[in-house]
Amino acid sequence: MTMTATPITDRPIRLGVVGLGTISELMLPPYLAHPEVEVVALCDPRPERLERWARVLPDAATTADLDELLTEAPDVVDVLVPTPQHAAVATQVLEAGITTQLQKPIARDLEQADAILAAARATGAGLRILEDYVFFPPIVKVRDLVAADAIGAPVGVHMKIVNTARGGWDVDPASYVWQVEQTSDGRGILVFDHGWHQFALAVWMFGPIRRVFAWIGATEMGPGFALDAPAAIAWEHESGLRGVLDVTLAPDTYFRSEYYSCDERLEVTGEYGFVRCNRISAQGLQTPSVELYRDGEVVQFHAIADRLDAGFVASTDHMVRWLRGDADPVIDGPTARHVLAALETALRSAREERVLDVTG
Ligand SMILES: NC(=O)c1ccc[n+]([C@@H]2O[C@H](COP(=O)([O-])OP(=O)(O)OC[C@H]3O[C@@H](n4cnc5c(N)ncnc54)[C@H](O)[C@@H]3O)[C@@H](O)[C@H]2O)c1
Repeated sequence: MTMTATPITDRPIRLGVVGLGTISELMLPPYLAHPEVEVVALCDPRPERLERWARVLPDAATTADLDELLTEAPDVVDVLVPTPQHAAVATQVLEAGITTQLQKPIARDLEQADAILAAARATGAGLRILEDYVFFPPIVKVRDLVAADAIGAPVGVHMKIVNTARGGWDVDPASYVWQVEQTSDGRGILVFDHGWHQFALAVWMFGPIRRVFAWIGATEMGPGFALDAPAAIAWEHESGLRGVLDVTLAPDTYFRSEYYSCDERLEVTGEYGFVRCNRISAQGLQTPSVELYRDGEVVQFHAIADRLDAGFVASTDHMVRWLRGDADPVIDGPTARHVLAALETALRSAREERVLDVTG
């Protein structure tokens, strides 16, 4: 076993990447731009995806075999494979003693999340779950304003996802194959895969979630395939604070976007006012991304990096600080497991049509 010797203080971080699909287009550019990150190895069974990144990273080893990637002595392996593969791939890396950064959601279910946590515990290898929304500068600003008492004590949080087919990039149809399979076992693209971000934000801002109620509909998109919207989900944190998430499908709405064709909003209401983030994935409302209302006055924040990629850039900076021993992972394994437990409770609540406590 080759344990990652952390912290790494005296040289660039050697990074290996496994899985080079759609999300690599947001994950890899910040690595290429970061002076303290060296991408040493790339792994994917699809030759065209290896070639796409080998063109810009000619010195990186390329392979279809994860064992071979591990022989390149990476300090950290970035796991970007489909969610159903997270447990198999992440446990293999962790069992080799190598620090792992794993995309959200941590795993497809709690049993697989537990296998990942057990592998990390067994070798002591570091584990960080990549959740870009908690690094998205407008959302960090919202969190900082709330923490600075700008609106008084928070009394509620509202989030909204509007999914559309217009605007944004053309996602490789191959990326949808596993998503459609995941949908057929009750883990839909909008509530499970996307709603993970909103549940992670809620936990990051306001702590653990105690109970959840979800009402999840289905919209037929083609023969045998339905999207999990409209959906309305309400939850209560252990602190007593309540939150709601509205997931709406509006397929003909156009949002300008250089990334995914959907958009989101988030608003925290406090005793004296509210602070909101007007957009995340796209640039639908092109007003300043953060606005604060208090006592009849509005303050707008114009100078915040507010394209979706800004969260990935900030997360990369943070990952380097984590590997240097200067920061915690922010979303660690147990926190991600709690987010998954809350999300799974929402799915079960919708099936059973009742409010459920988050357990397990
Ligand atoms: N942070 C975000 O906002 C965000 C956005 C999209 C996707 N994601 C997450 O990223 C992960 C990947 O999503 P995607 O859309 O890029 O999927 P994708 O299907 O586009 O790409 C996955 C890639 O992994 C490769 N792969 C599959 N099994 C592999 C294995 N065992 N070893 C090596 N490579 C393997 C595939 O060939 C493919 O190139 C998912 O967990 C998803 O939830 C996160």
